[in-house]
Amino acid sequence: MDLRTNYLGLELRSPLVPSAGPITGNPAMWQRLQDAGAGAIVLPSLFEEEIEYEAFAVGFAEEHGVEAYGEALSYLPTLDQPPVGPGRHLALVEQAREVLEIPVIASLNGTSPGGWVRYAKHLADAGAHAIELNVYDVVVDPDLSADDVERRYVELVEEVKAEIQVPLAVKLGPWFTAFGNFARRLEAAGADGLVLFNRLYQPDIDLDSLEVVPHLALSTSVAARLPLHWVANLHGTVNCSLAATSGVHDGADALKLLLAGADVVMSTSALLRHGPEHLVVIERFIRQWMADRDYDSVAELRGSVSRGNVPDPQVYERGNYYRVIHSWRPDHHR
Ligand SMILES: Cc1cc2nc3c(=O)[nH]c(=O)nc-3n(C[C@H](O)[C@H](O)[C@H](O)COP(=O)(O)O)c2cc1C
Repeated sequence: MDLRTNYLGLELRSPLVPSAGPITGNPAMWQRLQDAGAGAIVLPSLFEEEIEYEAFAVGFAEEHGVEAYGEALSYLPTLDQPPVGPGRHLALVEQAREVLEIPVIASLNGTSPGGWVRYAKHLADAGAHAIELNVYDVVVDPDLSADDVERRYVELVEEVKAEIQVPLAVKLGPWFTAFGNFARRLEAAGADGLVLFNRLYQPDIDLDSLEVVPHLALSTSVAARLPLHWVANLHGTVNCSLAATSGVHDGADALKLLLAGADVVMSTSALLRHGPEHLVVIERFIRQWMADRDYDSVAELRGSVSRGNVPDPQVYERGNYYRVIHSWRPDHHR
């Protein structure tokens, strides 16, 4: 059975890809992920803030005649020390390339065009097969219009693309008014693939301290509905690759996203819960399902339930909202 897929122009042996997170950031997990069948891995993000922080710290050291950057850090007690830092991050990419046979995708996380995007080139030079640009953002400024924000992201994609020779994927949140149009503009700006979607890690309020506290909840399968909806809508309307991320916990989740049109499906929460070998369980389910229905390859089934390939495209449109709401019956409570 042929599970091969093409993602960003890279030939992957399987569409199952561990997304950026603590598992892929732990070198002790790499071999296990590869042995469990991962098609590629996405390393944790190098953040715009980490790069700017280092530039700031080095500038400070030079200004104050401090020779060693390490010593300079001790002069900056008000700033949190970055968890990884650009240098260590580049070393992680190099190390992953040495250990792994599957493609290594490096992730860069930021929202504003600027000098920090040069790190895309450094990540590629360190050996990354592709770059994933995560534009995780919370736009709270009421003076910024949707058009301003989209234009900034398009510009950012153009800037990063100009730095690298390897393919570029763009990871996004789902909060865009006209997502199809924006997706096309990103593709025109040079995106070789879209990674749908970032999960918003919403803060919570502690009722005792009245403090706003970060709250990271791992996903459940329900979260896969959002990427499923948009992958199904975009399949066939953009030419770039589509990766689905959020809520992939079992083989059924993965299969649905492939049927919707994803080239790869990514997982973090499930691997954090069950360990890298959970990929084996997911793959086994996919193989069994395909065997039961005489599918020989993932290519045969991909996109067969996308918007362009279902008899009634309304199931992916507004019409479905009306239908779903009116399908509720009182006995659903029980
Ligand atoms: C603890 C944790 C760390 C993460 N770190 C990153 C990161 O560095 N860069 C990134 O693009 N996504 C990061 N993510 C997001 C995941 O890659 C993934 O897109 C998201 O968790 C949704 O997938 P899931 O439902 O399979 O968890 C992180 C997620 C978690 C839970």
